[in-house]
Amino acid sequence: MFTERFSLDGKIAIVTGAGRGLGRGQSLELAKAGADVVCAARTVEEITETAAMVRALGRRALVVQTDVIDSAQMERLVGATLAEFGKVDILVNNAGGGGMQGKPQHEITDDEWRYVIDLNLSSVYYGARAVYPHMAKQGKGKIINVASASGMRGDRRNVAYAASKAGVINLTSALAVAWARDGINVNCISPGPFPTERWQVTPEPAPGSGRARTLPSARFSPMQRGGRMEEMGYLCVLLASNASDYINGQNVLIDGGAMVGGYAPTGYTLDSYLAE
Ligand SMILES: NC(=O)c1ccc[n+]([C@@H]2O[C@H](COP(=O)([O-])OP(=O)(O)OC[C@H]3O[C@@H](n4cnc5c(N)ncnc54)[C@H](OP(=O)(O)O)[C@@H]3O)[C@@H](O)[C@H]2O)c1
Repeated sequence: MFTERFSLDGKIAIVTGAGRGLGRGQSLELAKAGADVVCAARTVEEITETAAMVRALGRRALVVQTDVIDSAQMERLVGATLAEFGKVDILVNNAGGGGMQGKPQHEITDDEWRYVIDLNLSSVYYGARAVYPHMAKQGKGKIINVASASGMRGDRRNVAYAASKAGVINLTSALAVAWARDGINVNCISPGPFPTERWQVTPEPAPGSGRARTLPSARFSPMQRGGRMEEMGYLCVLLASNASDYINGQNVLIDGGAMVGGYAPTGYTLDSYLAE
């Protein structure tokens, strides 16, 4: 059947940053498509909640508290997955963040710089490296890295984040080439604005509090809205499934046409001006 190619029945997926936001959205759609999900992040309460939601969908779930910055913890995450489920088919390197909005970019300290690079870029390599031997042995695996539209353009308020996400995009290409003959597909998703508990996309620029933590207004986007969690999940399912076996080394932008429409291409939007 046509839809079987999109099915994840019997697959084991690890999702980092699964406790909330896009990671939770991806975990739930992967589960709906049939996968059992290993939920990783630092806050146990949140990943426990996501795991309960996965189980409510009739799938198995495992909670593994993990700080993705620590490569030993990433190895432990994969070890725990193998111990529980005996294999790993899908790794979603989603955990990330650490933007420095509001701080003058020439004042970023060495520690702040390293933190953002380690959180967004090094963690992706640690995760990919940890699953590689197992995926290579089974001759199949799907690695999905979450970058950002910020990795594809300048961003005057977020240079470390933008650099780290650009690194994720090219790390994806490099690993895809390196591991294609092992049967491992490595692809990347670059989300545009997806409202989460922490980030809101305002329908209009609303003067007042919280502006520094507010994404530029949805009215700068061609579709006039941010993305929905499940929409990120659908793309993740595609890249995790057999339907995408010939898609490799790609960076898929999911932003409702925001980038091609010129949404905040430089970080100089009306919101940015008003915020200063
Ligand atoms: N939302 C957007 O508009 C947007 C746009 C472009 C790109 N992205 C990217 O999409 C990914 C998810 O973003 P989001 O908006 O869903 O963020 P979020 O709501 O802040 O969730 C981030 C998740 O990552 C986890 N995390 C953060 N630091 C971690 C660490 N050191 N170790 C393990 N887990 C960690 C968090 O859990 P703990 O804090 O408990 O560890 C949480 O579960 C990130 O890579 C982000 O850069 C998001």
